[in-house]
Amino acid sequence: MLHSNYSVNGEGHFTLCGADTVKLAEKYGTPLYLLDENDIVKQCRIYRNAVKKYFSEKSAIYYASKALSIKEIYRIIEKEDINADVVSLGELYTAIKAGYTPSRLCMHGNNKTPEEIRAALGYGVGSFVVECFDELDSISEIASDMGVTAKILLRITPNIDCHTLEAISTGKLDSKFGVPIETGQAEKFVERALSLPHLDLIGYHCHCGSQVFEHEPYLDQLEVMMVFAADMKKKFGYAPEYLNIGGGFGVRYNESEGEIDIDGSIKLIGEKLTELCERFSLERPHVFMEPGRSIVASAGVTLYTVGSVKNIGDFRTYVTVDGGMSDNPRYALYKARYDALIANKANMPKDIVCSIAGRCCESGDLIGEDMPLQSAERGDILAVTVTGAYNYSMASNYNRVARPAIVVIKDGEDRLAVRRETLDNIIENDI
Ligand code: LLP
Repeated sequence: MLHSNYSVNGEGHFTLCGADTVKLAEKYGTPLYLLDENDIVKQCRIYRNAVKKYFSEKSAIYYASKALSIKEIYRIIEKEDINADVVSLGELYTAIKAGYTPSRLCMHGNNKTPEEIRAALGYGVGSFVVECFDELDSISEIASDMGVTAKILLRITPNIDCHTLEAISTGKLDSKFGVPIETGQAEKFVERALSLPHLDLIGYHCHCGSQVFEHEPYLDQLEVMMVFAADMKKKFGYAPEYLNIGGGFGVRYNESEGEIDIDGSIKLIGEKLTELCERFSLERPHVFMEPGRSIVASAGVTLYTVGSVKNIGDFRTYVTVDGGMSDNPRYALYKARYDALIANKANMPKDIVCSIAGRCCESGDLIGEDMPLQSAERGDILAVTVTGAYNYSMASNYNRVARPAIVVIKDGEDRLAVRRETLDNIIENDI
């Protein structure tokens, strides 16, 4: 199957990490998010071991919380020696309330409010990635006010086109993120960071985009950043101790996409870094990476109950489920393709092609179109795979649909990690 944690048992039921998904649907109800802890741990170890091996012992992984920010995820990753980036007070608060060590956190986000900066400094986060001049001034002022020093990395726009979706490409010159080199602004950014009080400039940050499969954009980005670092060293005598090279590699959502060799790609980036440091006589910085998607995506499966199957002549078959864009908006937003199967008929051939529709009141509420599936009928359990990233974190209450529960599976045993929203949760802020 698509990932090694997916299988089919003797009853012909789809299993995740050995757990029977049909039984889990019965026990917890649908729609339901499942999360395989063993798979998350596996991914954490691949990244962590690779950065320590090919970069340095002080190099680290910062899990990008935006992919999935729930208390349980911070508990799982901290045990695996993984740091985390947070982009909002909400993500920060979730991590803190999970008991996660604040100094492991990096405060991110392209428009940090004074309230967020103050809270992050108050909790004692380890560092900030600074996006622009206004924010630099603001962090310096608030840190001075609080009598603390903020460790910062400057977000530089590398102007790399990594050929991913426009909506998730972030490293181009014309971007709301970071400060560009070409215009001369990045140089002024460094100069200003070095001159302001209560700031400790520990390095640079860059990120070319998300769902990137090739290692070339990372190598190109590294070259741009090291040329810039060498230039800044000449001009200001400043060399970065840390270089954050941004988000993680792409994820295999369906059979047509290839496997990614994460270890092999990080090895190549490490070799390139050595070469560039020698070329520019720079000391080798420690490296941070911020994977989100590739830590949690393949750990996730969403279960639904089929409500109806509608054939429109020879034209199209709609299989309608009890969730949809409210728990997974990625097809509606990006036409992102997923694989699906009927969990209780997992050993049967996929003999229909259908559109999987959700229950929200708009035609675009689809999980996918032209999807091969086993013949479906009302009451079947439909599983959509690779939903661990950017599903729950992007879920909504559109049409006042309650968000599903999240069940974590470890070594085949299940436990509830997030309760299903109740109707009272939905109206609790209404006055
Ligand atoms: N670092 C930075 C600065 C980022 O902006 C992102 C993602 C990451 C790390 C993590 O990238 P990842 O390893 O997860 O690919 N909602 C979209 C994805 C938006 C990604 C935004 N930034 C989606 O569902 O595809």
